[in-house]
Amino acid sequence: MRLILTFAHTRLLWLALLLLCASTYSLHAKDAAPTGIAPEKVADFVHAVLDADRTIYTNQVVNRMQAKGIVSAVEHWEHENALPLPAQFLQHSGKLVAESGRGIRYRLISLWPIYQRNAPATDLERKALESFSQTPDRPFTGIVTSGRKQYFQAVYSDRAISTACVKCHNSHPLSPKRDFSLNDVMGGMTITIPLD
Ligand code: HEC
Repeated sequence: MRLILTFAHTRLLWLALLLLCASTYSLHAKDAAPTGIAPEKVADFVHAVLDADRTIYTNQVVNRMQAKGIVSAVEHWEHENALPLPAQFLQHSGKLVAESGRGIRYRLISLWPIYQRNAPATDLERKALESFSQTPDRPFTGIVTSGRKQYFQAVYSDRAISTACVKCHNSHPLSPKRDFSLNDVMGGMTITIPLD
């Protein structure tokens, strides 16, 4: 009888110990739980993905197909058997994402835009583009409000990474700047993400 009681007690003791361990673990787990990813990081992730997609589209689709003489990318691709330009690819996907209602937005902008719709739309965007003459490798960031919502905005410089960028922009009839050189900052990619 005594033996059985002791056995029952030991079991209870173990159970209590187990519960204690579990509760301290869950407390610790709560302490260690991530509080969320910093908006700077989220914008960096989005920028990395957009940049990679644009590079792959440019090199593996546009340049490759053009080199083989199969199909080329032209601005008025919708009316021809042609591919969209990489900049149009990005602007169109940005429009689609904006329409999805998640609050995330991105587009290419410039102080010398081919189209006025790609000019800076806010003070922050203008300051960001101007900052690239001093610090081209640092994204320009800030908080913007629209209605009652707050957004984090980051603008990354967009460089003329190939002669194709330079040639096309310098010769486009609507381009206000005709002396871009290789590696110049031509504009920026702006990424806006909601903060709540
Ligand atoms: C064959 C022509 C062509 C090439 C090549 C080209 N672009 Fe563009 N780019 C355009 C056109 C057209 C637009 C306007 C797209 C729109 O908004 O419909 C544009 C838009 C832009 C914009 C937004 C501001 C503006 O001018 O309207 C930036 C920034 C830009 N391009 C950078 C680049 C970079 C960097 C490269 C090379 C990696 C490049 N472009 C290659 C034609 C070109």
